[in-house]
Amino acid sequence: MTITTMETRGTVVFPENFVWGAATASYQIEGAAKADGRGPSIWDTFSATPGKVREGDTGEVACDHYHRYRDDVALMKDLGLNAYRFSVAWPRIQPTGSGAANQAGLAFYDRLVDTLLEAGIAPYVTLYHWDLPQALEDLGGWTSRDTSYRFADYAAIMYDRLGDRVSHWTTLNEPWVSAFLGYGNGVHAPGRTSAHDALRAAHHLLLGHGLAASALRSAGAEEIMLVVNSAPVLTPAQVNDPSAAVSEADAAAAHRVHALLTRQFLDPALLGRYPEEVLEAAERNGGTAHVLDGDLEIINAPIDLVGVNYYNPCVVEDGPGLPADAAWPGSEGVRFATVEAPVTAMGWPIVPSGLSRLLVRLSQDYPRVGLMVTENGAAFDDVVEDGRVHDDARLGYLEGHLRAAHEAIEAGADLRGYLVWSLLDNFEWAEGYGRRFGVVHVDYTTQARTLKDSALWYRDVISRNGL
Ligand code: FCB
Repeated sequence: MTITTMETRGTVVFPENFVWGAATASYQIEGAAKADGRGPSIWDTFSATPGKVREGDTGEVACDHYHRYRDDVALMKDLGLNAYRFSVAWPRIQPTGSGAANQAGLAFYDRLVDTLLEAGIAPYVTLYHWDLPQALEDLGGWTSRDTSYRFADYAAIMYDRLGDRVSHWTTLNEPWVSAFLGYGNGVHAPGRTSAHDALRAAHHLLLGHGLAASALRSAGAEEIMLVVNSAPVLTPAQVNDPSAAVSEADAAAAHRVHALLTRQFLDPALLGRYPEEVLEAAERNGGTAHVLDGDLEIINAPIDLVGVNYYNPCVVEDGPGLPADAAWPGSEGVRFATVEAPVTAMGWPIVPSGLSRLLVRLSQDYPRVGLMVTENGAAFDDVVEDGRVHDDARLGYLEGHLRAAHEAIEAGADLRGYLVWSLLDNFEWAEGYGRRFGVVHVDYTTQARTLKDSALWYRDVISRNGL
């Protein structure tokens, strides 16, 4: 089935029980970096290092959600959210990444979960959204196999504490980003720059996922999800014309990058094997000695859902003689192209049809799991005027992508829900606070929250279960 047209208007109704929600992540919103025994994470270290984050911003205060979570849950209730995806800061639970749990840290997530449940909002807990305890990084971080085992211990601690009230568990958020921006091009914490380290980190993240998934399952978890940053890999011509002809060389480039971006994680997790392209990349960059016998069986632990974070397509073409990009070991001979499309404040092209293509493809390639859009959204330069934020561009972005998601459902994708990124403006990693993704505006001086027009619109979408 190919998606060639986009619905641009008209009524669209989503399936019954479709889950509507919003997502955030601990380091991006919590602040309270030293409160109640929290240990330092790699993002505290990285953001305190001059030159790593725009304007020298850090997550030390962020949206102060640690103290304002009740008000934030009240906002979610007001918007009618069914689900809230948040992450747990591992260094609040185990300040040095191993050993006994810090009760004060656990108590925060207890309070948050109870407040959500009282508001009728289902908690979707992500165990790892990039804030690795610094003490584990000092021992090698994700390049060390031991970190995978520490992660599974931490997952068990969290289930033990919240499992009586939380049904939806995610192991990792975007392991590609953790591995290849964290250890490959160094744009994210811990800021290392080695293809070999990045490939080892990717494998140990997967191993940690598998070990944690098994630990959660045997403890009784109802639903387990792995969240990936995925994107259709297109040639420049395909961006605006999905049926555009593609040369053999361009098709080969796209095929390889798809293996590096998406299949590197979903093939091991769901099919129990690595794509050849990934093994070849590892062979050319220090070897595969870190992949031990039995690892793929561990990684292939049964899960229920794949979460898809989609922002824009990945656009490539044949680039004879080009070296591999630092974030893409194995991409020799590929050119990462720019495209003719409107862009967000991040410079990311706006291509809603990419979401339907992606969802349809994933549901065909991995038919045994359900799908959820766990992040989708856009940064724009919002301004508050008379207590309002007229963020028409964001609203248009969201509407286009919801229509694309609906098209994918009509084309057979088993899509269970949609979570907007993000509930709040927040600390956008290396971009700091200058990039606003929230449907709720945050004034970082006063911590005042203002619902943007997109939030008011999203509330209507949820109440109608459609557009
Ligand atoms: C994703 C991250 C999320 C947020 C968005 C914009 O890669 O998971 O934390 O930064 O991008």
